[in-house]
Amino acid sequence: MNEFTFWNPVKLHFGQNSIEKLPREVALYEKILIVYGGGSIKKNGVYDSVLQALADKQVYELSGVEPNPRVSTARKGIEICKKEGIDFVLAVGGGSVIDCAKLIVAGAKSDADAWDLVTRKVPALDALPLGTVLTLAATASEMNSGSVITNLETNEKLGWGSPAVFPKFSILDPQYTYTVPADQTVNGIVDTMSHIFEQYFNNANNTPLTDEMSEGVLRTVIDAAPKALKEPDNYEHRETLMLAGTIGLNGFLAMGSRGDWATHNIEHAISAYYDIPHAGGLAILFPHWMRHNLHVNPARFARLAEKVFGVERGERNDEEVALEGIEKLSAFWTSIGAPARLADYDIDDAKFDEIIAHTLLYGPFGNFTKLDADDVRAILTASL
Ligand code: NZQ
Ligand code: ZN
Repeated sequence: MNEFTFWNPVKLHFGQNSIEKLPREVALYEKILIVYGGGSIKKNGVYDSVLQALADKQVYELSGVEPNPRVSTARKGIEICKKEGIDFVLAVGGGSVIDCAKLIVAGAKSDADAWDLVTRKVPALDALPLGTVLTLAATASEMNSGSVITNLETNEKLGWGSPAVFPKFSILDPQYTYTVPADQTVNGIVDTMSHIFEQYFNNANNTPLTDEMSEGVLRTVIDAAPKALKEPDNYEHRETLMLAGTIGLNGFLAMGSRGDWATHNIEHAISAYYDIPHAGGLAILFPHWMRHNLHVNPARFARLAEKVFGVERGERNDEEVALEGIEKLSAFWTSIGAPARLADYDIDDAKFDEIIAHTLLYGPFGNFTKLDADDVRAILTASL
């Protein structure tokens, strides 16, 4: 293992009716800004439950946070915070809403423009306190300090983060995810699995515990996914997926190793130009990233194939076993309805040069193995 420091201060309230914990969590605050998306929380009753829990507070609202949240929306939230003297921000929604709220809480305590915080031109050192009510299992933004923001003016979608924006608490009631439509449920499943792959493909030695944990979460998600899709309001399947999403990227699986994150970087670059769902891009790219980099450590890919996808080795070598594992991953994602080709989003190679340049903003990238422009082009071309 590599040496590491682990710190995750997020208090999780997980389970049925955990919204009951909200009044106590915000007892010290008076002016609360609730941040939410395009209206799903109004249709499914989550909005009413939140307002009820905040009945004795002065509540302000910022709605309309987009999937792939825009810096322009965060700026509106920052303005409300500064103008109204907001002392607490509550994000109610999926990863996009939470990511936007993270930029709002940091921007509210800074004189810099929000985009300068995202590009790290100005460090985000301080923030208003933030809480979350999660409605979609996917990103783990509810229990990490990362955020991904899109700037449509510059065609950039960038990840940033700061310890200051860890939520103080997150409320996770699996019932709130019953109304997540099938395509978004699939996106959440793909994103959760992709986060685990990004961390599983690392260069550290002797990581048996996190390897087993990662493989266990992957097997659990693969088992629960079709069941949750068949019965969207089955509590047990939804709670399994919800906890898996959080564990997938709250730092537990990264103890002792440094994840790869190249596929996420390529996906963010595609989303910056085409505004596609994050996990749709990952479902297309990941099998190709795997094939492209199989040679780096065939035994690692073979282990994944055997332990997660039940591939039987027989007399075959690591490469052959690994390739069958990648086939099984693609078949699984296709079976639950994930896209498999860029063509599924009508994306051709017209903007490959721009996308490649975006991925290389900070030079060759990836920690399992470094990718350069030729590597990215090969992965993108295979994904057409
Ligand atoms: O906007 P509303 O009306 O709320 O609808 C949303 C949205 O259209 C809907 N939805 C959410 N909860 C629902 C629901 N619909 C019905 N019932 C519910 N209970 O789902 C749609 C997608 O929501 P979004 O928040 O965009 O999805 P997700 O949670 O997958 O977040 C994706 C964003 O997170 C970033 C992605 O890049 C993308 O911008 N990521 C953030 C990470 C992090 N902070 O750690 C890591 C990830 O790798 C990822 O990059
Ligand atoms: Zn992701």
